[in-house]
Order: sequence, then structure tokens, then C-alpha cells
Amino acid sequence: MLRNQTVTSSRPNRNRPPGPRGLPIVGVLPYVRRDSLRFYLATTRRYGDIAYLGRGFYAINNPSYIKYILQDHNSNYVKGGAIPNLKLLVGEGLLTSEGGFWRRQRRLAQPAFHRQRLGLLAATMTDATVEMLERWQTFTVGSQPFDVAAEMIRLTLNIVSRTLFSTDMSGDTNTVRRALPTSLKYVRQRSLSAFPPPTHWPLPSNLRFQQARRALDAIVYRVIEERRCSGRDHGDLLSMLMLATDEETGEAMDDRQLRDEVMTIFLAGHETTANALSWTFYLLSLHPDIERRMHAEVVEVLGDRTPTVDDLSRLSYTRQVLDESMRLYPPAWLISRSPIQDDEIGGYTIPAGETILISPYTMHRNPAYWDNPEGFDPERFTPEKQAARPRFAYFPFGGGPRICIGNNFALMESQLILAMISQRYRLHLVSGHPVAPQTMITLRPRYGILMTLHQR
Ligand code: HEM
Repeated sequence: MLRNQTVTSSRPNRNRPPGPRGLPIVGVLPYVRRDSLRFYLATTRRYGDIAYLGRGFYAINNPSYIKYILQDHNSNYVKGGAIPNLKLLVGEGLLTSEGGFWRRQRRLAQPAFHRQRLGLLAATMTDATVEMLERWQTFTVGSQPFDVAAEMIRLTLNIVSRTLFSTDMSGDTNTVRRALPTSLKYVRQRSLSAFPPPTHWPLPSNLRFQQARRALDAIVYRVIEERRCSGRDHGDLLSMLMLATDEETGEAMDDRQLRDEVMTIFLAGHETTANALSWTFYLLSLHPDIERRMHAEVVEVLGDRTPTVDDLSRLSYTRQVLDESMRLYPPAWLISRSPIQDDEIGGYTIPAGETILISPYTMHRNPAYWDNPEGFDPERFTPEKQAARPRFAYFPFGGGPRICIGNNFALMESQLILAMISQRYRLHLVSGHPVAPQTMITLRPRYGILMTLHQR
């Protein structure tokens, strides 16, 4: 593994980089389907910074290549991989659109995520967490096991709907918990199929997906309709999107576009954060010494009062715990890009239209940048240690112009929630409960995370 290898060289190599040999026709797809994380990790360990996976796919695992693609040379790249299939669910929203259209939509949405605006949302986040903690009291009776992953989905869904859409979606939790995994599984299966069947064929998988999408659509259209009827400007993201007009035509977004944006934020804005928190509770339960140190910080900074946004900078170890948890379990574990024109990475020519897979999961475990990469150690995220690493050795929120629009929102929310839960409870993993990552579009705990609560 070469740390200082250049991204481009004077004489590009028109051969493919080395990589695993797949099966005829389907290539490496069966291995990816069987265990994606293991496959990508083994591939990057064996072939290093760049590997060819067959069928026009590459895996890269070097911070300077990642910086080149996501940031320095981003104008030559569009999103690839699962994105066309993800569009079946979210349409042309912020996550999936491209070019001038994406730029305009990003500009419209950005003010909803400005620091000042986020500061105003902290109280809603802590209110929602207080409500959850009150509900959790029933779990303390007889140490009743509960699924912390399901609870985090419920909480983050509640927060995203209250803060960005000024509405209450808590009644929709069960629908979302059924429909979302069905939809994401469908997107993943199509993305990993050599010949995905047409979406309009009446196959059970297509019908299941359509039913799930209809259930999610019903929620999203209801939120839009309620706002139209109220006619109020809440100053939230939904109002910003609904009141925006085209500079040239003066027209507002139509219902379809609004639906795509709301669906995108609603999905991207809760599942990822819920997974980050769930993995954090799991890791803390395995490392009581780290859990104790985090709790000591929370007690010192907050005592038993509710945190505000001004406390966050002093909850630095709590933040390090989150950073380290997202290193080991980055919720968005795979990013992909396609060059618009032939490009050169690591001395190899990457033809236009082929797909480069960039995995925070493998980069975050690359032993060239992380000692003992499998170990859980929040000390890696002290300011000094962070400054000593290349920017793209760690990128749970991506980077460049397409960096996650909700990154500060998610970090603030996670830090507040983690501190508030830690003030009241210790969480213990139920012994014997299997915990394993599942690679849908996000990295979620396959069997949930069963835990018991212990009052401080
Ligand atoms: C821990 C939580 C989160 C993680 C790990 C995460 C991760 C990511 C990553 C890696 C990307 C870039 C994808 C790419 O480059 O292809 C992204 C994009 C995006 N995320 Fe997040 N995200 C999180 C939370 C959120 C939240 C809370 C929201 C909204 C409230 C959000 C909304 C979005 C949107 C709209 C995009 C597309 C941005 C664009 O292309 O302009 N995310 N996220």
C-alpha cells in the first residue's frame, strides 16, 4: 500500500488494475451478495488502493484518490452504482439528482441546515428525547429487553418530522418500519443482479416494492397536503421548498418534485442517524471503561440538566465516541461515482461510464491509516490525531460538493441523544443476542440490538 501514490501519472496504464477473478457472466456479484463487507474488505486488503472487480466496477481505498474523485475533480463525476435503482424510491431528490438541477435544489435546501437554524432545532430534539426516556421507564421494570435499533428509528423519525417538516409522524413509525426495509432490500437486490427484471412485470418482488412505496408515498403526500391546507410559513425545510420559485419562470416546485425532496430527506434524515446511535450503544456495551469515561464527562458538563447546543463543544469525548462508532460502522457504507469522461486514477485509465466504488467501511479499516483497525478507541479522534490523518481517511458524511447536507444536524442530534440517555441509563446487550451488520443502502444491525436498561 503506497501512502503517497499520485492520483494521476504521466503515462496512464490502459490495462485494468488487478482484482479478484469472478465467475463467468455474473462476475463477483455472488460474493458481494453473500457478504458485501467481507468481500470488499478482503479485496482491498489483497489488492490495495485500487482493484478491478469486473463488469466495469472498481474499488478504491486510498484517501488521495477519494479526495480527487469526491472533491478536486468532482465535476467529472456523477453518482453511479445503486443510484438508478434508488431513484425508483426517492425519484429526483437531492441525493440522486445531478448537474444544474441538483445545484439549484441544494441551494434552496441549504438554509434549513445553517448553524443558526440548527441551534433553534436543538430544543425540539431534546423534547423528543425526553418523551422517549419517559416511555422507556416501562423497560426498567424487571429489566425487560427491548430493541434499541427500533427505538432509535422511532426517535429519529420523530425528530426529522418535527424539525424539518413541523409535523408529527410518530403514528407512522410502524408503517415506515415495515415499508422501508422492503424498499431498501428491493433496491439492493436489483443493484446486485446481473439482469434485473423490468419493474413493471407483476413479480412478487415488484409488487411488494410497489406496495411499500405506496405506503411511504401516502405519508409524504399527506405531509405536503397538510402544509398546503394550513398555508403557514413555518420557516422550516418544507416551507423553504414549497415557497421557492424558479428564478426564470416564477413557478413553484410541482407536487412530484416536492414529493421526491421530502421523501429523500425523510429517508436520508432518520435511518442513518438511527443506525449510528444503535451501533454506538452496542459498542459502548462492549467497552464499559469507555462508557464510564463518557458518562463522567456528561455528569461533569451537564449534571442532570437537559443539554443545549452550547454544551456540545464541551461534550468532546461524547463526540469522539460517536466519531469512532461511525468509523467502525459508517451508516452510509458505500458511495459510488462514474466518470463523465475517461479519467485516470492511480495510473490506470477509468473509462467514462464505468463505476468506482468508494467504501467508508473499508477506508475506515485500512491498516495503513488506522492502527489496530478493528479496535474501538475514541482516542483516535482527539484534535491532534485527527489533524495528523489525511482528510479522506475518514469520511462518514462523504465530501466535496455532495457532502451530506444533514451532517451537522445528525452530529448535533446524536450528541444530544447520547448524552441524555447516558445521564439516565446504562444499556446492556442481552447475552446471546446475535449482532451482525446488514448491508442495505445503509449499514444496519441485521437482528436489531436487544438491550436492557439500568437506571443510574
Ligand atoms: C449519521 C447520519 C448520516 C450519515 C452517516 C450520512 C451520510 C451521508 C453521505 C455519505 C452522503 C453522501 C453520499 C454521496 O456522496 O453519494 C449523504 C448525502 C446526503 N444526506 Fe446524509 N447522512 C446522515 C444524516 C443525514 C441527515 C440527518 C439528513 C437530513 C436531515 C441527510 C440528508 C442527506 C442528503 C439530502 C444527502 C444528499 C446531499 C447532496 O447530494 O446534495 N443525511 N449523507
